[in-house]
Formats: sequence, structure tokens, C-alpha cells
Amino acid sequence: MKKAVFVTGGAGYIGSHNCKELFKNGFLPITFDNLSESTKESVKWGPLIEGDINDSDKLNFYLNKYKPIALMHFAANALVGESFIAPNKYYKNNVAGTINVLDAMLNNNVKNLIFSSSCATYGNPIFTPITENHPQNPISIYGQTKFFVEQILKDYKRAYNLNYASLRYFNAAGADLDSEIGENRKIETHLIPLAIETALKFNDKLDVYGKNFNTKDGSAIRDYVHVSDIAIAHKKALESILENNDCISLNLGSSKGFSVLEVLKEIENELNTKININFTDKREGDPPILFADCMLAKKVLDWEPKLSDLKTIIKSAVRWHKIKKR
Ligand SMILES: NC(=O)c1ccc[n+]([C@@H]2O[C@H](COP(=O)([O-])OP(=O)(O)OC[C@H]3O[C@@H](n4cnc5c(N)ncnc54)[C@H](O)[C@@H]3O)[C@@H](O)[C@H]2O)c1
Repeated sequence: MKKAVFVTGGAGYIGSHNCKELFKNGFLPITFDNLSESTKESVKWGPLIEGDINDSDKLNFYLNKYKPIALMHFAANALVGESFIAPNKYYKNNVAGTINVLDAMLNNNVKNLIFSSSCATYGNPIFTPITENHPQNPISIYGQTKFFVEQILKDYKRAYNLNYASLRYFNAAGADLDSEIGENRKIETHLIPLAIETALKFNDKLDVYGKNFNTKDGSAIRDYVHVSDIAIAHKKALESILENNDCISLNLGSSKGFSVLEVLKEIENELNTKININFTDKREGDPPILFADCMLAKKVLDWEPKLSDLKTIIKSAVRWHKIKKR
């Protein structure tokens, strides 16, 4: 029988790519998702339980039913801007919701967790590339919620021996190379899908936040890592914590920084069109430059991104968006 892995937020963008990777590697992913941001169509590799991580009874019932060897926790709200306007939503879902998940895990003797953390826990970098021992001083409430959970995990390890991997993703991007899934949120706010939709003329303009950052072309520099590379890192992190009965905190990025304008140029080249750009003010909580040092993930997991060059990211995302819109 396949070993079950419980996946909160498994219908979402990164969660669904992880479900595919788990299935490919002989695990049965059990998606637990309230579909607040996503749809059922991306749940293709195991059962879907429609449920909310704030519902302890439901979590306990299904953890007891499936007896997973581990839990991957993707479910969260993840919009930096919204987190300033609705901190209660973010603290409830991302912090209280996560405590609920952890307690349900302990009730059901599930002792291995992979947690979706974020480069947003670092705040404004004092050096780049950012290593895991860079100080964590989040500058958004979203980043703060991820940082709090990382602290909670240390305490749960100490007190209850809950093993965890905190994986700090930089900007997840691209789509499954078979185009079975991709970025498909109910309300999209991320640069690459919005830019592709604008280039394909589904939107008339693309808002770009800030053109006066202290960078080579004035737009913000980010590290884009292919979502399928992230999924492979999760599989390796799962094997690592199962084998070593221990905890790890790792950056997942491409170790390269591209400016927003460079990303848009790549999309324009791929689609042979111009994107109608509307520059607006910088957003609160947006650092000018973020890119990762991923040597630790290489050392600990023998993980290196293979699909995270900008061309592959954009090509795979464009292919997915063309199929999705048909
Ligand atoms: N996308 C990125 O670049 C990025 C970067 C760093 C960290 N992360 C983190 O990775 C995780 C996944 O991000 P994503 O981009 O796939 O987002 P997403 O919005 O596509 O997926 C999140 C999923 O969680 C579900 N969900 C939200 N609240 C829930 C709740 N209370 N109960 C059950 N399900 C709930 C949503 O319906 C959705 O399917 C998040 O924790 C996010 O903070 C994402």
C-alpha cells in the first residue's frame, strides 16, 4: 500500500505540484483544502478533502483515517499587501491555523512536517545572496506570520519531538512541464501570470510596483525558482527528516536575481508582443533585492534547481496559460 502524505493547501499552486511529485515517487497525497484560493481541477493525484485547517475535528478525523507518515503544510494566505490591511486574517489563518494543524498532528502521532516558509521572513537584506543565517527581521505581517511559525516549530520540536523542514521559498514560478497544472488562483496577483495574461490580451495593462528601487533598472530584483524544482526539494526534505529524525531550515531559490523588467522582456520575447506597463507606487513591505544562497540545500539535500533558468520558467508558464484559457 502507498504511504500517505497529508497535504494542506494541496489544491493550490505549489501544493498541487508537490502532490504530483509525491505521486510520482510512490506516495499517496491526501489534499486537505478549503478551496478559498484554488479549484478542485488541480487535485489529480489523490483524494481531496474539502476542509479548513481551522476545523480541528475534521483535521483529526482525516489524519486518523489516513494515518499519513508526514504532513506538508502549504495552506496559508500569502499576499504581502493584504496582510497589512487584514492582519487578523493572517494571524488567524497562518499562525493559529498552523497551531491547529500541529496539534492535530500530535493527537494522531504524525511527527514529520514540511512547512512552507518564505524569504519574506528575512525582511530587508543586509547582504545578498541571502544565506539561512541572515537575520530574520520581517517587514510585512505576512512575513511575520511565517517567522512566528518557524519559532513555534522550534518549540514543538523541543517539547514534542515534532520533526520539521522549514523551506523558505523565494519566488515560486513556472508550471508543470506536462502542463497538467500551473498557477491557477481564483484571484491572481503574482507578476508572471498577470504579465502573461496581459501579453495574451486578457488584461489591458500590467501594474508594476515601483520604478525607483536602487537597482540596475529601477525595478525590484527577485529570485525565481521553478515550482517543480521546489517540489523535488520537498520530496528530498521529506526523505531527509524521515531518515534523520531531525529538523532543517533551508532556502529554496535559483540563486539568481532578475529585475521585474527583465522578466517582462522575457515574456515579451516568448510571445512576440509588447506588454502595456503601468508603473505605480512601491508597495509597503517590498524589499528592492532578494536572492538566495542555496548552498545549504545542495549540501543537506543534494538539491539543485534544474528548471529554474528564466527561459524554462517563462516557457512553461506561457504554455500553461495558453491551455488554461482554452
Ligand atoms: N508562491 C510563492 O512564491 C511563495 C513564496 C514563499 C512562500 N510561499 C508559501 O507557500 C504556500 C503555498 O503558496 P501558493 O503560492 O501555492 O499559494 P496558493 O494560494 O496557490 O495555495 C494555498 C492553498 O491553501 C488553501 N488554503 C488557504 N487557507 C486555507 C485554510 N484555512 N484551510 C484549508 N486550505 C486553505 C487555498 O485554497 C490554496 O489552495 C503558502 O504557505 C505560501 O505562503 C509561496
